[in-house]
Amino acid sequence: MPNPKQWSVSDHIREGSAVEIATRVEEAVRRGRLVPGAALPTVRGLARELGISPTTVSAAYRLLRERGLLLTAGRRGTRIAPAPPVAAGARVELPAGTRDLATGNPDPRLLPRLGPYLARLSPAPHLYSDEIHSPALVALARERFRADGIPVPALAVVSGALDGIERVLAARLRPGDRVAVEDPGFPGILHLVRALGLVLVPVAVDDAGLEPAAFERALGRGVQAVIVTPRAQNPTGACFHRDRVRALRRLLDRAPEVLVIEDDHCDVAAGTPAHTLCGGRDGHWAVVRSVSKTLGPDLRLAILCGDEETVARVSGRQLLGSRWVSHLLQQLVVALWSDPRVATRLERASACYAERREAVVAALAARGIAATGRSGLNVWVPVREETPVVLRLAARGYAVQAGEIHRLDTPPAIRVTTAALDVGEAGSFADAFAAALEGPAATGA
Ligand SMILES: Cc1ncc(COP(=O)(O)O)c(C=O)c1O
Repeated sequence: MPNPKQWSVSDHIREGSAVEIATRVEEAVRRGRLVPGAALPTVRGLARELGISPTTVSAAYRLLRERGLLLTAGRRGTRIAPAPPVAAGARVELPAGTRDLATGNPDPRLLPRLGPYLARLSPAPHLYSDEIHSPALVALARERFRADGIPVPALAVVSGALDGIERVLAARLRPGDRVAVEDPGFPGILHLVRALGLVLVPVAVDDAGLEPAAFERALGRGVQAVIVTPRAQNPTGACFHRDRVRALRRLLDRAPEVLVIEDDHCDVAAGTPAHTLCGGRDGHWAVVRSVSKTLGPDLRLAILCGDEETVARVSGRQLLGSRWVSHLLQQLVVALWSDPRVATRLERASACYAERREAVVAALAARGIAATGRSGLNVWVPVREETPVVLRLAARGYAVQAGEIHRLDTPPAIRVTTAALDVGEAGSFADAFAAALEGPAATGA
């Protein structure tokens, strides 16, 4: 990967308008010469070096910030965003033989085999004039939401949880609006919120999800929306229980203007029941339930239910662009959801994910290492410093995710995707983890 130190803004930009400077910086990001996190000079510093007005540099940085390419983070200065919305680069290839516990993927062995269902799809053409959401899919989705006590005033089919969340945010918020997010949280959400020009307001989570006191403080500071993961919180594995739902609902009842978005990205693969903050809510809300973790991420399909106005805005805007989710995919989900053998397989898959999470948490605990992971595909292990642990585990053949990309204000930790780690492997992984903690930088002592 190119060294970011080799590319400096002032070496490559001699003069120009704000738009030209922004274009050169974007090009450097696209070509991998400025990598996520790379520092840029201060407005004054760059203006001095280039001999141009600070107003021009400041306007260039503003353009880049509005596009989600730059972050200005207090003492950390101005940096390239962790996931700038411009296609940049190559995938990182792991050394052969590495056990990859870094991805957040479901276990492909636990996904239903699609072949027989694909073979049965109807080849009849779907035309522009047809219904955009398959009535059979809508009926099945309604039933599933209702079985979980989630009301369904209106419903739309979207291309995955993130697509649904982006559409709801775009339908209701404006750049500069403040969004309460889980800290630590899913980087996809953090990047998306920033890329839409919205402001992140971090709220701490414990193993039952958003902490009520922290959420109350965030509401007190003023937020227009909150995005919560009711189960399989990524990265901590937190999931709501009844008392937590009650406490958070009490707070939200006092803030009816706040848009509530629930990201049920894992559905039944979470292994814990669906709880909702949205039942009976008067204001605007949406619950987005994806099939990515149960039926496969490549289906790119999620069901979004919410209040009528919000869902009408989402569907109306969708019609102006991608129009609908392919009926081939909608039919495929209907076929899978209608087959009781798939339901049985999914029950087994979620039991298997639970066993694997629990085996890793228990094996770490037996070595004196605390970790959380009550639901979903990941376990979160607090450490004193992330990088040495990641590097030492890599040297022992395990790839894990440094928590930094998940964190805003919370302390360091490592995310371990346990989804495909067989129970029998938990002990040797925990041994490797314990060994990786040895040494002055990472022991937490
Ligand atoms: C919390 C969370 N939300 C959303 C997603 C993405 O879901 P989808 O594939 O449906 O867009 C993920 C993927 O891991 C996730 O962890």
